[in-house]
Amino acid sequence: MAKTAVLFRSKYGASKQYALMLGRKVSAEVVENEGLTPQLVEEFDTIVVIGGVYAGRVSGLDFLRKNLRALPGRRFAVLAVGATPDSPDNTAELVKRNMKGDLEGIPLYYGRGAFDEGALSFVDKGLYGVLRKAAEKMRPEERSPLESVLSDAVSPVSWVDEAYLAPVISFLSGE
Ligand SMILES: Cc1cc2nc3c(=O)[nH]c(=O)nc-3n(C[C@H](O)[C@H](O)[C@H](O)COP(=O)(O)O)c2cc1C
Repeated sequence: MAKTAVLFRSKYGASKQYALMLGRKVSAEVVENEGLTPQLVEEFDTIVVIGGVYAGRVSGLDFLRKNLRALPGRRFAVLAVGATPDSPDNTAELVKRNMKGDLEGIPLYYGRGAFDEGALSFVDKGLYGVLRKAAEKMRPEERSPLESVLSDAVSPVSWVDEAYLAPVISFLSGE
């Protein structure tokens, strides 16, 4: 298997958990995706970016956007980690919103993360409060999958599951 780096950005820990599990499974180097330069990862021929989904955006993709051209010939993949239940529609929406421009064509996989209302930062607590109130006012059938999760979530909850790594591992082994 190629020499692989797993770059993660995680606010509440779920993306970090996936990064550590993947690193162990495929013997990859696991690195926090903060303040990285292309020189720090140029020795790797495959790079997996793992990041939490916040308001539809996958954290940490800025590294790829800025540095893709400085890392020619590498293989890239993304694992987006969110609270929304896994579905083809959810993944398609994440691809549409995040994998634009130079990132088009890089495979994006999805792993379900975790949610702990008590651990949220001040700003995130405010945002979550607004989303949850709006969702609670809707009829259940009007809610998006994420709104249903937010209005029904009994926190803390973790949906982290190694099984979500299977497609990433297949990608890494060239299947
Ligand atoms: C303010 C806020 C916004 C969020 N937005 C989304 C979202 O748009 N889609 C989603 O699936 N999950 C969303 N989530 C859930 C996070 O993606 C989930 O908690 C995930 O585990 C975060 O990854 P991390 O633990 O590595 O930071 C949101 C959570 C917070 C606190």
